[in-house]
Amino acid sequence: MQAVGATRTGIRLSPDAGIWGVRETDALELYPALLAELAPLGLAYIHVIASAPDEVLAAMRRAWPRAMIVNPNHPANTTRSDRAAAERWLGRGADLISLGRAFIANPDLVERLRRDVALAGEDPAYHYAGGDTGYLTYPSYVPLA
Ligand SMILES: Cc1cc2nc3c(=O)[nH]c(=O)nc-3n(C[C@H](O)[C@H](O)[C@H](O)COP(=O)(O)O)c2cc1C
Repeated sequence: MQAVGATRTGIRLSPDAGIWGVRETDALELYPALLAELAPLGLAYIHVIASAPDEVLAAMRRAWPRAMIVNPNHPANTTRSDRAAAERWLGRGADLISLGRAFIANPDLVERLRRDVALAGEDPAYHYAGGDTGYLTYPSYVPLA
């Protein structure tokens, strides 16, 4: 953070995500308290997975004074974040939305969202396989200029 400055630094948080066997019983108190401590550092944004109940993210929204990016889905969920999930969180106070798997499978993701074209699904078999296949091999629906 010292090298680039707080205004160019953000933090990704996965409240109550249960990843790697971590169990949280106090997310509703813990994350707003964490954000109250982080806020004076002047970070540009928090980037939060919607991995906790809605009330936890709502409390985080109230506790965070700057940009909040929401990734609408738990990573273990086979349902990928999509336009409807994005709009739901924009309506609940998110400033920006991030899409993970949808971005992998749709090289023209922004145009698809603009035109309300169905999103392609990516093949999880390639997630950690290495190489271009499954990352750079998905076709565009909208012809790219
Ligand atoms: C191949 C792959 C790698 C990922 N790597 C990370 C990671 O390194 N750190 C992290 O916080 N989340 C990681 N995630 C989780 C995503 O950031 C995101 O939270 C998840 O895919 C759910 O959102 P989505 O439905 O938009 O894909 C990864 C997801 C995928 C599919």
